[in-house]
Amino acid sequence: SYLQTACEVAFDTERNVDEYADVDWDKLGFRLMETDYMYIMKCCQDDEFSHGQLNRYGNIELSPSAGVLNYAQGLFEGLKAYRKVNGNGFLIFRPEENARRMQIGSDRMCMPSPSVDQFVHAVKQTVLANKRWIPPPGKGSLYVRPLLMGSGPILGLAPASEYTFLVYAAPVGNYFKEGLEPINLVIQDESYRATPGGTGAVKTIANYSPVLKAQMQAKKKGFTDVLFLDAVDNKYLEEASSCNIFIRKNNVISTPMARGTILEGITRGSIIEIARDFGYEVDERLVSVEDLTEADEVFCTGTAVVVAPVNSITYKGQRYKYNCGEDAVSRKLYKSLTDIQMGIAEDKKGWTV
Ligand code: COI
Repeated sequence: SYLQTACEVAFDTERNVDEYADVDWDKLGFRLMETDYMYIMKCCQDDEFSHGQLNRYGNIELSPSAGVLNYAQGLFEGLKAYRKVNGNGFLIFRPEENARRMQIGSDRMCMPSPSVDQFVHAVKQTVLANKRWIPPPGKGSLYVRPLLMGSGPILGLAPASEYTFLVYAAPVGNYFKEGLEPINLVIQDESYRATPGGTGAVKTIANYSPVLKAQMQAKKKGFTDVLFLDAVDNKYLEEASSCNIFIRKNNVISTPMARGTILEGITRGSIIEIARDFGYEVDERLVSVEDLTEADEVFCTGTAVVVAPVNSITYKGQRYKYNCGEDAVSRKLYKSLTDIQMGIAEDKKGWTV
């Protein structure tokens, strides 16, 4: 019951911060490990979310005709919580940005959205209730996954009558099986991730499964991931299946401009700021396949991926190689970002909560 759950949570959150779940922290990858609690809040169409609460983590009940199951009326977010290196509490990275992005996406998908405060409160509650699952410093993070879905039943195509906002969390390590090793991408120019006027710029669940086929084919050929091109000119870089892309030539770092077909990653935005602080010129522009032939360095960014150096990109059978040694700029950017996320460096930008 609700009261029982509230008592359990109160008991759990009073536990010593030093208490850890029974996990082999050296073996974390990016796989689901079920934790203790999830946060749920509901509302009707044209109404506001209210009465959110923590529940034991577990299956949820949905009508077979729920909007999310039939018409993919759903969004997700991803953000991370870290255990501070000095052992004194936890840090969540830029949760308000995820909240705002969910609001933009919910407008595109005709869904009501939690307020920024409600979103951040739900994330904090979920992190605290699952704090024994936050890995020790340096071993990984607690990945927090907020979902917003049309949970009400609907048969004809229309917005659902009821919405569910749910937040769960899982401890994670490195996203790619390569760990922190440089990755190898292949350019896909037969299928596209997004089209102008579509939903490529928002984090709708329906953006992700259409890339699986290209991703599986690439993996079969030994590549780490797929890099998509724009659907109109078939020559401008967009993003990889789960992250944004950057290239560096001398002192200039470029990344595909946001023009409705790429997701404006929160890590992308953070890396742009950090790179500028380091003195690099950062351009958000159209980046073509030709630019790849001249780049000194390429790297990907994303919440799950963090900053991943790219070793090679293959396009039409030709393999382009990049610097990803110890002197790579991406390594400097990775360290600078993760030092803020883990509380090693002073958070001068006020990014952590
Ligand atoms: C994230 O980086 O948080 C994402 O949402 C990408 C996802 C495919 C893991």
